[in-house]
Amino acid sequence: ALVSMRQLLDHAAEYSYGIPAFNVNNLEQVSAIMQAADESGSPVIMQASAGARKYAGEAFLRHLISAAVEAYPHIPVVMHQDHGQSPAVCMAAIKSGFTSVMMDGSLMPDGKSVASYEYNVEVSRKVVEFSHSIGVTVEAELGVLGSLETMMGDKEDGHGADGKMTREQLLTDVTQAADFVKQTQCDALAIAIGTSHGAYKFSRKPTGDILAIDRIREIHARIPNTHLVMHGSSSVPQELLAEIRQFGGDMKETYGVPVEEIQEGIKHGVRKINIDTDIRLAMTGAIRRYLIENPTKFDPRDYLKPAREAAMLVCKARFLSFGCEGQA
Ligand code: G3H
Ligand code: 13P
Ligand code: NA
Ligand code: ZN
Repeated sequence: ALVSMRQLLDHAAEYSYGIPAFNVNNLEQVSAIMQAADESGSPVIMQASAGARKYAGEAFLRHLISAAVEAYPHIPVVMHQDHGQSPAVCMAAIKSGFTSVMMDGSLMPDGKSVASYEYNVEVSRKVVEFSHSIGVTVEAELGVLGSLETMMGDKEDGHGADGKMTREQLLTDVTQAADFVKQTQCDALAIAIGTSHGAYKFSRKPTGDILAIDRIREIHARIPNTHLVMHGSSSVPQELLAEIRQFGGDMKETYGVPVEEIQEGIKHGVRKINIDTDIRLAMTGAIRRYLIENPTKFDPRDYLKPAREAAMLVCKARFLSFGCEGQA
């Protein structure tokens, strides 16, 4: 059944686990996530970005998710708007049946200029007001995603802050977080701790200076009742990079967010963990392998089947590592 995100996150907080929020764009991804959830007894958060709507179309996404709910009636599913760039985008998502929205007021609606604190409070509060009146959950974001190694904003997926940032911008401030939640009443807060979207997050296995798990601990101590959200949380497994390279792909050396660091975050209030890139890598590796190993094949079902299976395995591994097993 379709449920509100608040319901799932409250349960996750009560029982001290985290829920991966997977980005979806097509049938194979939706079906991989549902199969993984079914096999592990996990609750599901599926999220769609503006790019997903552009790719699939709003109606297709909505009906793909309804299909998931119909096919797996025993699994609670949240349909979440990822990175809403304005109150209007969030409103449109709610109209089309989303049970949860992210108002990303850390950036201006152009998606590249850093917003003022006052602007962020204003738009987030506005979205909370209309969303809560109809039972829709709101995630807001405070701090700018980007790299503490290069001090650059997050540009890999074509959205994110332009240019050089300061350490203060790239790390969510604890006192400001408390004020922000008080003023906006958001249900969940996405925080900046040095992660960024895409495959290229860290040039080495991250340590505390470039992945600030400590900051999560400090924020959670100050606002223990706010569910924290980690964006840019793909782990970028080395074996998936190796498979892509082995079958002709060009992936530079790179490191993601280690699962153990996410588990540390979950101990300190992280309840929603956003993952897109790991599914992309898994599907790409499987398709590359299949096509190279089977040069005579041309039915898309032949190569999308192993792609879906590879995505399913990543999703299931995350459900298990984050403590979702049997929580649905
Ligand atoms: O926000 C980042 C997610 O990975 C979605 O990416 O905008 O390319 O769909 P996208
Ligand atoms: P990744 O690129 O690390 O998978 O992050 C996805 C994300 O944060 C979507 O909002
Ligand atoms: Na990146
Ligand atoms: Zn994100």
